[in-house]
Amino acid sequence: MDNQPAGSRKPDNQPIGNRKPDNRPIGVFDSGLGGLTAVKELEKILPRESIVYFGDTGRVPYGTRSRETIRRYAAQDMAFLMNHDVKAVLAACGTVSSTAGDIGRNLPVPYFDVIGPSAKAAAGLTKNKKVGVIGTSATIHSDAYRQALLGIDYKLEVYSQACPLFVPLVENAFISPQEEVTRLVAQRYLGPVREAGVDTLILGCTHYPIIAPIIASVMGHSVSLVDAGREAALALAGRLAEDGLLCGEGNPRSAAFFVTDEPESFTGVAELFLGHSVQGRTGRVSMEGA
Ligand code: DGL
Repeated sequence: MDNQPAGSRKPDNQPIGNRKPDNRPIGVFDSGLGGLTAVKELEKILPRESIVYFGDTGRVPYGTRSRETIRRYAAQDMAFLMNHDVKAVLAACGTVSSTAGDIGRNLPVPYFDVIGPSAKAAAGLTKNKKVGVIGTSATIHSDAYRQALLGIDYKLEVYSQACPLFVPLVENAFISPQEEVTRLVAQRYLGPVREAGVDTLILGCTHYPIIAPIIASVMGHSVSLVDAGREAALALAGRLAEDGLLCGEGNPRSAAFFVTDEPESFTGVAELFLGHSVQGRTGRVSMEGA
C-alpha cells in the first residue's frame, strides 16, 4: 500500500529508544492548494513539527493530464522537497498518489500518500458497505481507491465519480458554502453517487475538503465524508512517532510554502483555510512548464 514504508525507511540502524529527535521538516506537496488539507491537520496534531509545502499552482490541475506527465511532475515535486532536506514526504494529492506511488516509495525517506489511509478510514466507517469515491479524472481512472477498498473488504460496493471541475473552482476561490456555481456543479456530479445510497464518501482529491460544506449539503448530512488529506496526515504522524522520527521538545518550528505561480491568490485561500497568515512565508519557485 502507498503509505507503507519504503525499503530504506529507517534513517539509521540505531534502536528507536536511543535515536536523537529529528528536527528536519516534513515535506508536503500537491498540485496546488489541496495539500493544505493535510497541512491543517499536521499543524493540529504535530504543532512542533516544521513543514515545507510545495504547491504546483503554475501547473495545476494535474488530474486531467496524461499519466506520463503526472509522473514527471510528481518526480520533480519530490526532488524539490528532497532538496529541502525533509525527513518524510507526503503526497497530499490523490492524483499523484494513484499514479506515481512507486516513485515516492523509492525515495530515501519515508513516503506517505492518501489512498491507503482513506480507504482504511472509509472501510471502518461504512455501515451499509456502500462507499463512494470522488476524485480527479486521473485518480478515478487509475481505480486505486476501489482496489484499496476491496483489498480491505471485498464485500464493499464502491461507486466512483470523477469531478474534474472541482479543482479549478477551489483554485479560483469559489469555496464559500453559499457559492451557487460550486453547488450546481456538485449537484450534477454527486447525484448518481447519492442515488446509489452510499453512507460514506471518500473525498479522494485533497482539494475537495475545502468545499466539504457544499458536498455535505448535497450528499445529505448522514453521509460520512472522509478527508483524504487528513487521513494521510494522521497516518504520517502515527508512523513518525512509531519510528522515533518526531522533532525534539525545543524545536524552533518553521513553515515555508513554495508555489510555482504568483503567490497572492495562494496566500489568500491558504489563510482562509488554515486560519493563520502565511504572508512572508510563501515564495515562488520555477519549474519546467510552469
Ligand atoms: N489535490 C489534487 C488531488 O488530490 C488535485 C489534482 C489536480 O491538480 O487535478 O488529486
